[in-house]
Amino acid sequence: MDKLVYRRAIPEDVDRFQSLIRTIINKPDLTILHEFFIAGYKHDSIEKLSPRAILIVSEHLKDKTIKGFTLIEPFACHYHSFDHVATMGIYVEPDSWGKGIGRRLLEIGCEEAAKAMYEKFFTIVRRDNIRALRLFVKNGFRIVGVAHNYAKKDKKYIDVVVIEKLL
Ligand SMILES: CC(C)(COP(=O)(O)OP(=O)(O)OC[C@H]1O[C@@H](n2cnc3c(N)ncnc32)[C@H](O)[C@@H]1OP(=O)(O)O)[C@@H](O)C(=O)NCCC(=O)NCCS
Repeated sequence: MDKLVYRRAIPEDVDRFQSLIRTIINKPDLTILHEFFIAGYKHDSIEKLSPRAILIVSEHLKDKTIKGFTLIEPFACHYHSFDHVATMGIYVEPDSWGKGIGRRLLEIGCEEAAKAMYEKFFTIVRRDNIRALRLFVKNGFRIVGVAHNYAKKDKKYIDVVVIEKLL
């Protein structure tokens, strides 16, 4: 398998994974992400993330392409009672699916989140995204329940599964 390096993102990385995000957004029925997500994550915006955000990329050692990334963010910034809770998103370039990159990003994300004093993940996955649900559940996430009509994309409501993991 290709040698990959897992490391914290630097601002220049953001431009390099735009096409990865676009590919995922353009795949029908995969995520609740929208073009707006890309607009919000421009080159200069990495510094605008919460100081407690953790962005880790999986980079090909030789050609330096970004194969995947995980973004961990505080669940809520304005309530200290949620300071110990984070959300997590994992995105892997579709041509590289099934090679363990998602699992590795999740493992490293858990380690880094614990180091950053988070105590649990509380996040969501589309109800019909079986691949992602399996990834999370096989790696210690518990299904809390289904939230109906949680998101709306292209005028269609989307149900999500709420998942959590204690770190
Ligand atoms: C979900 C996603 C991150 C998985 O990444 P990946 O690199 O393919 O994952 P891995 O290769 O590490 O596989 C991890 C687990 O996913 C599941 N999986 C992998 N391929 C699968 C398939 N074809 N069908 C169902 N489950 C599958 C398995 O449980 C696998 O664990 P195993 O290999 O021990 O059996 C990737 O598909 C992706 O980026 N999807 C689009 C974005 C997304 O949905 N993100 C999640 C919500 S934030």
